[in-house]
Amino acid sequence: MADTFDLFEIMRTTRSMRRLKPDPIPNTLLTQVLEAGACAANGGNVQSWRFLLIRDPAIKEAAAVWYRKGWHETVGPRYRSGGPSPGMSAEQFERLLAAAEYLADHIHEAPVWIVPCWAGPRGSGASIFPAVQNMLLAARAVGLGATLTTLYLLHEQEAEAAMGIPSDYHSYAILPVGFPKGKFGPVRRAPLTDVVFDDKWGRAWTGA
Ligand SMILES: Cc1cc2nc3c(=O)[nH]c(=O)nc-3n(C[C@H](O)[C@H](O)[C@H](O)COP(=O)(O)O)c2cc1C
Repeated sequence: MADTFDLFEIMRTTRSMRRLKPDPIPNTLLTQVLEAGACAANGGNVQSWRFLLIRDPAIKEAAAVWYRKGWHETVGPRYRSGGPSPGMSAEQFERLLAAAEYLADHIHEAPVWIVPCWAGPRGSGASIFPAVQNMLLAARAVGLGATLTTLYLLHEQEAEAAMGIPSDYHSYAILPVGFPKGKFGPVRRAPLTDVVFDDKWGRAWTGA
């Protein structure tokens, strides 16, 4: 359980938690997370979402093959050939890559995957990602770690087939969820002065 339910503190500390314990998650906590997802804004309130919970090790393993392939063949090498992300030192970026690689090799060990899906042809995701963010924040609030992952979509058809998603729905992410091995901590982001403009593009907003 988080030591605070202050929303801003939860947002400041909802980091990607990629090293997870295999311990099962009580249904009461899962229900809280899923209810938060189903509270989210969505276009026209049509709620064409479905949230597939995957706990079966064989299904996770079959889909994880495609996630691992995407990381090792494409995404890992791409990140390694670039510089650190904004707001991160080279060492912090290296730790991020190590954690991402760990997840690629262990994603099937997360006790629960939540796979948010939306009906119809693949769209922008604007109606499903608010639910995803609500679930990430709710997971953090109840002491569960999670990561928003999408790189399995490099092998979308194969991974969705492995997860048994019907052809009239598409998945938009896999959220591997579990109790974290490490501690929650602050997210690392560039300062607002780098990313918020005041009336004129490029003029930093200082908040003064
Ligand atoms: C659209 C999107 C896709 C992402 N896909 C992956 C992914 O496939 N694998 C992964 O390990 N992290 C993934 N992430 C997590 C980001 O790498 C992470 O949010 C970012 O590095 C910032 O780190 P933090 O969440 O720990 O603050 C994704 C995040 C977003 C928003």
